[in-house]
Amino acid sequence: MAERINAPRGTYDVLPDQDGPRRVVEETARRILESAGYRRIETPIFEHTELFARGVGASTDIVQKEMYTFEDAGERSLTLRPEGTAAVMRAYHEHGMQKLPQPVKLWYFGPFFRRERPQAGRYRQFWQVGAEAIGSDDPAVDAELILLLHELAGELGVRDVRLRIGSLGTPESRAAYREKLIAHLRANEDKLSEEVRDRIDFNPLRAFDSDHPGTQEVMRSAPLLIDHLGKEDLEHFDEVRARLDAVGIDYEVDPTLVRGLDYYTRTLFELTSDALGAQSGVGGGGRYDGLAEQLGAPPTPGIGWAAGIERLLLAGQTPGTPAPPVDLYVAGTNVQAFALAAEGLRAGLNVQLELAGRSRKGMLKAADRAGARYVALVGDEETILKDMETGEQEEMTPQAVVAHVIKGRHQS
Ligand code: HAM
Repeated sequence: MAERINAPRGTYDVLPDQDGPRRVVEETARRILESAGYRRIETPIFEHTELFARGVGASTDIVQKEMYTFEDAGERSLTLRPEGTAAVMRAYHEHGMQKLPQPVKLWYFGPFFRRERPQAGRYRQFWQVGAEAIGSDDPAVDAELILLLHELAGELGVRDVRLRIGSLGTPESRAAYREKLIAHLRANEDKLSEEVRDRIDFNPLRAFDSDHPGTQEVMRSAPLLIDHLGKEDLEHFDEVRARLDAVGIDYEVDPTLVRGLDYYTRTLFELTSDALGAQSGVGGGGRYDGLAEQLGAPPTPGIGWAAGIERLLLAGQTPGTPAPPVDLYVAGTNVQAFALAAEGLRAGLNVQLELAGRSRKGMLKAADRAGARYVALVGDEETILKDMETGEQEEMTPQAVVAHVIKGRHQS
């Protein structure tokens, strides 16, 4: 026998019983986001590699080691999308959305791909729901997006939620700070992990993210970006916070908050759940006012977030959805039975057709197990309709069955 083929590491199948809760997540996200004026967008699963190399940033783990990149027969380098923001910004400009009333508010739900080490809550193909508001630098947009992520987690019953927010300032304020941070890292180089040491000039901020004890020690006395923000950055941050305070959203200001994407400017936020293990990030995002220019488009402010569906499901209490009730179980294997099932389906009934060639007793048992309201026992000569609620049986023509079931369904 040939060797059996399983799904690739870090991927998973969504089995029928798991579909219900995922649908609840999608529908809840749709309701919350569309009620705030966000409209659905879907971008391609693969894009030109440059989009992510420039958008997400060459110094990030994502671009350096986690992308599924391939060349197609036309020798173009393509990449399975590791995230959604760069593509949404691309689509905004490609479709002239700057001519629409601003900000343009968009949301998405779909699969993303990163070649990370698989573990609980971390996959190589995972799903995100995301929201992006492009075309405004008003702090109210930041606050609205944080509110929406918070509401989504709340509606899905995500346990032990923590919301952290920070500000990265503008590239100018960050550049001045960066020099100070690099000087601090250089002065303590011998205590740092090799990885951090190698990236001192490349991406010094990521040192705050390290779980290496020596690095953490060094970072405790590191200068903080939040103390080096410009006046306008601070005002922006205060305006966001004032709005969150006004609507009673609990958050912590985390001056060391960093995220794994290079496009962020100003507001940054992350929602975690202590109910999750090491992979505690449920969702996060931030402002990306410089991204459009990185992609060769005119400067366009934007902000957004994405949340992982698997983590929302793991940390939340999403109810399953029961299978729809069966109106009619067609117990018969002949052509008449098939025709009756087809007629029922066309009339909009939930119909299950006997497909296993059971005995009459077996079919009735199967119908009962499926919770069918009616069973049509279709013989070659006669058709009997049995009401499974009352136990009544009546012989009738196959043509009369569907009308009878529709009537019975409305009465119950
Ligand atoms: P991100 O933090 O890289 O941000 O991902 C957002 C969420 O996706 C994470 O909080 C996590 O729940 C989920 N996630 C990420 N990687 C994995 C994985 N390997 N397995 C399972 N879940 C995962 C972004 O992607 C940005 N595009 C968010 C954003 C939108 N920023 C601005 N706009």
